Amino acid sequence: MTTPIAVITRLEGSDERQWMEALAAVLPEERLVLFRDMTEAQRQQAEVAVVANPDPADVAALPNLAWIHSLWAGVERLVAELGPSLPIVRLVDPEMSRVMAEAVLAWTLYLHRDMPAYARQQQARVWRPLPYRRPRSLTVGLLGLGALGTAAAGRLMDAGYTVRGWSRSPKELAGAETLSGDAGRAATLAASDVVICLLPLTAATRGLINKDRLALMKPMSSLINFGRGPLVVTSDLIAALDAGHLSYAVLDVFDQEPLPPDSPLWAHPGITVLPHVSAPTDRQTAAAIVAANIRAWRASGRIHAAVDRTRGY
Ligand code: NAP
Ligand code: GLV
Repeated sequence: MTTPIAVITRLEGSDERQWMEALAAVLPEERLVLFRDMTEAQRQQAEVAVVANPDPADVAALPNLAWIHSLWAGVERLVAELGPSLPIVRLVDPEMSRVMAEAVLAWTLYLHRDMPAYARQQQARVWRPLPYRRPRSLTVGLLGLGALGTAAAGRLMDAGYTVRGWSRSPKELAGAETLSGDAGRAATLAASDVVICLLPLTAATRGLINKDRLALMKPMSSLINFGRGPLVVTSDLIAALDAGHLSYAVLDVFDQEPLPPDSPLWAHPGITVLPHVSAPTDRQTAAAIVAANIRAWRASGRIHAAVDRTRGY
């Protein structure tokens, strides 16, 4: 008999139930047990845990874990909270990349086609067509060219935009100019009409978009942050918008989520607030990926490519 698979979440009841159903449907040969329902013997036996925002104490209560599988793509909290020797496999799902690329395109079009300006004009009953700009004339700079950034770059190029991308290590991406290093970041910020942040949150990226980096951005350019809130220093962003240096920001992620009711971001005229919706995990496709990774490990003993704990992503 194989060892049980622990499922550890702090999701709401119905959400957790639907995850259990989705996982059970694709792993009929496994015993999936919610952490709180596990016997002491099962806690001793479990070698794998599937986790969504777990209480680290629950993970620590499984002494024989060989690895854990995250149901989210971003794993900064797991990296910070779990012991450094426990391998973390994060979710890399082509469907999530497709959905993120769709969101990136949608909000880039929103900015390109001057929706914020037309909304302001409508409020003031002003009838004034603004000049049309061809997509090619806009440079969109992607900070982060991983699973999500690469898919977004492809979708933006298909739509005709000029795309520049920045990553930690040098990358090649047909049709886009790709850069790395501090000089590459400065060049990307300076050239972009829209900067899109799709970086993971690590020690190296926390607070990356601060007043100095915002000052490097092209005057009247816009920022889209779909990565994690603390990548951007909120007060510096508000100052850059208030000073008229930046024209607009679309934010899907925040230092604190849900965004507190007293946050100045809610009512800022130059900001769109989204409730962390740019690329939600798709239960069906994600469960199938988790199942494939668990089956491969059962068959070979090899753990799917895990997060590099020194890099933090
Ligand atoms: P990924 O595949 O790990 O890609 C990360 C990219 O960022 C890589 O290109 C990496 O460079 C680059 N990078 C990391 N640290 C860097 C640094 N210090 N300087 C320059 N570049 C750096 O991650 P992903 O799957 O694309 O996801 C990115 C993030 O999106 C996640 O970590 C998560 O926080 C966020 N996310 C948000 C949502 C949402 O709904 N808002 C949904 C899913 C994910 P290399 O290529 O050189 O490694
Ligand atoms: C969502 O933000 C994720 O990291 O999957």
